[in-house]
Amino acid sequence: MGRIAGKVAIVTGAGRGIGAEIARTFAREGADVVLAARTRKEIDQVAEEVRSLGQKALAAKMDVTVKTEITSMVQRALEEFGRIDILVNNAGTIHPAGFLEATEQDWDAIQNIDVKGLFLCTQAVAPHMIKQRYGKIVNVSSMAAQGWYMPGFASYCAAKAAVNNLTKFTARELGVYGINVNAVAPGEILTALTYQNQTKEQVEKKLKDSRDMTMVKRLGEPRDVASLILFLASDESSFIAGEIIAVDGGRIDRM
Ligand SMILES: NC(=O)c1ccc[n+]([C@@H]2O[C@H](COP(=O)([O-])OP(=O)(O)OC[C@H]3O[C@@H](n4cnc5c(N)ncnc54)[C@H](O)[C@@H]3O)[C@@H](O)[C@H]2O)c1
Repeated sequence: MGRIAGKVAIVTGAGRGIGAEIARTFAREGADVVLAARTRKEIDQVAEEVRSLGQKALAAKMDVTVKTEITSMVQRALEEFGRIDILVNNAGTIHPAGFLEATEQDWDAIQNIDVKGLFLCTQAVAPHMIKQRYGKIVNVSSMAAQGWYMPGFASYCAAKAAVNNLTKFTARELGVYGINVNAVAPGEILTALTYQNQTKEQVEKKLKDSRDMTMVKRLGEPRDVASLILFLASDESSFIAGEIIAVDGGRIDRM
């Protein structure tokens, strides 16, 4: 028996990186998974992996910034599986840019995906969890929300701070219905998102710096985040609510 056997989970941004790893981890632990992301080819591939692990998968091509697409994804999930036990709000973007150079479009893209998307997905799923008096919602925040100065990431830091606040707010509002809401705050994790638009030299320097900044002297991998999310999505964590839990190898600048 897996740790979330028989459960149904929606994972946003499940096409690659951390989201894809969450989907695989959930499937290994016995859950059926709805893969919600923008790129058809990516989610179809992850859906195949979920099926090869013996679980059902629904690849739902959608955009978390569009309410009607969220509603139809949730509807399809209910038609296919009859219930939704777990929601992981993982979809996110960064658009790195200096504070003075960042455009209004950069700001809007980040706020819309990282904050509005999370708000709308939670709003769409919560009524069904309330009906069944059971649910686990895990939001993917970031170390960027902890009040550190991260040059190039002003909008992202602001968005993830909003994610933390929404996590606490919804944990309070939904806890009474048997729904646990928590967030994870990853440090630097090796994915396509981390190193987009950078030269090879910049990437190599960043990798070294990142390693040096952790207590455990290694880089984070998607599975490091997925295993914490699995715990928060399972009944092992049923007395945890409204928490933002770091998974960053013990960043030395967090002390
Ligand atoms: N990688 C890191 O170092 C790191 C660190 C801290 C937090 N995070 C957070 O982890 C989450 C996942 O990051 P990742 O590194 O795996 O990113 P990634 O870019 O590799 O994957 C992001 C996924 O989200 C999907 N997505 C993006 N916009 C979407 C939208 N509008 N609608 C639906 N799906 C959308 C993409 O299709 C993709 O599947 C993000 O919320 C990110 O902010 C990442």
